[in-house]
Amino acid sequence: MSIPVRKPLCLLPTPLHRLDGVSDDLGMDVWIKRDDLTGFGFGGNKGRKLEYLIPDVLASGADTVITCGSIQSNFIRQLGAACAMVGVRCVAVVMDKPYEYELPEGHGLRAESGNRLLGDILGIGWVVLPNGTWDTLFEELANRAAELRREGKNVYEIPVGGSTALGAYGFLKAAEEIRADQFDAVIFASSSGSTHSGLLYGLHGTGTRVLGVACDPEPEIAEEFAALGKSLAALASLEVELDATDYSVDFRFVGAGYGIPSDAGQAALEYLAQREGIFLDPIYSAKAFAGLIAMAKNGEISGKVCFWHTGGTPAIFAQTDAERSQ
Ligand SMILES: Cc1ncc(COP(=O)(O)O)c(C=O)c1O
Repeated sequence: MSIPVRKPLCLLPTPLHRLDGVSDDLGMDVWIKRDDLTGFGFGGNKGRKLEYLIPDVLASGADTVITCGSIQSNFIRQLGAACAMVGVRCVAVVMDKPYEYELPEGHGLRAESGNRLLGDILGIGWVVLPNGTWDTLFEELANRAAELRREGKNVYEIPVGGSTALGAYGFLKAAEEIRADQFDAVIFASSSGSTHSGLLYGLHGTGTRVLGVACDPEPEIAEEFAALGKSLAALASLEVELDATDYSVDFRFVGAGYGIPSDAGQAALEYLAQREGIFLDPIYSAKAFAGLIAMAKNGEISGKVCFWHTGGTPAIFAQTDAERSQ
């Protein structure tokens, strides 16, 4: 294999520390991996993926990067920062609410503030579509990329969440930061699959259970993650290949759907902020932490556990009043 080129963007390794208050409350040994403090583009897990995606963008000679996602996407915010730094235009095809269902009045994140505001500061070229499905969004991404190519731009397309083999490679390397710590389990928010794939392959053989808490109510994602994992295994010449059944994706904490804060997540967000002074985000990490609390209380996890904080905190500022408990 040729080793993927890394552009250092993040402050690594991120801090890993014990949560004393949470450990007392749950009667177990709970640690936190602070990828909310990756230190680049307002922090979050996407910085690790971009360390390997950006060199590939530059090697391709692209002058424009295009991706898609929700208007409050954390990936788009960090991609915008990375592109601005290397002088490549970043175009983001987005919807306020890219999903099939209706939300109750006043729920879901607002389109303003949060990541959208940070993206404006970074100079992201937004293509804002009316609300629709993920499939429409993916189609529009392809259409806009074709249009840009017709205009003579050299375009590099990145799928939602930066989940390519190179993105997952960032998390294969991240796993090295906790391999020696002998955790019984690592728990984190899982959505487009590269965090999950990288950690699963990276911790394979250590005895650490890799427990993804889903943020999307789509049971087929384990198959998609497994395909992504196989492309990672090929990229990194790993000797092992894992299947969908090797992925633990827990759908119990999604709540009403992708992009909609849940009551349990909101309670977890407020609990961790008040108990440890650490903020989670309402769409991903709060649901994952709600999962950790429930699993601890049900006896599904025990011993020494690591919560991998994947960031996303700017989305707090796009929450509606209806979703705050007070
Ligand atoms: C804050 C946060 N946590 C977790 C995730 C999930 O990571 P992945 O897309 O690699 O599954 C995302 C992105 O989707 C995110 O923005």
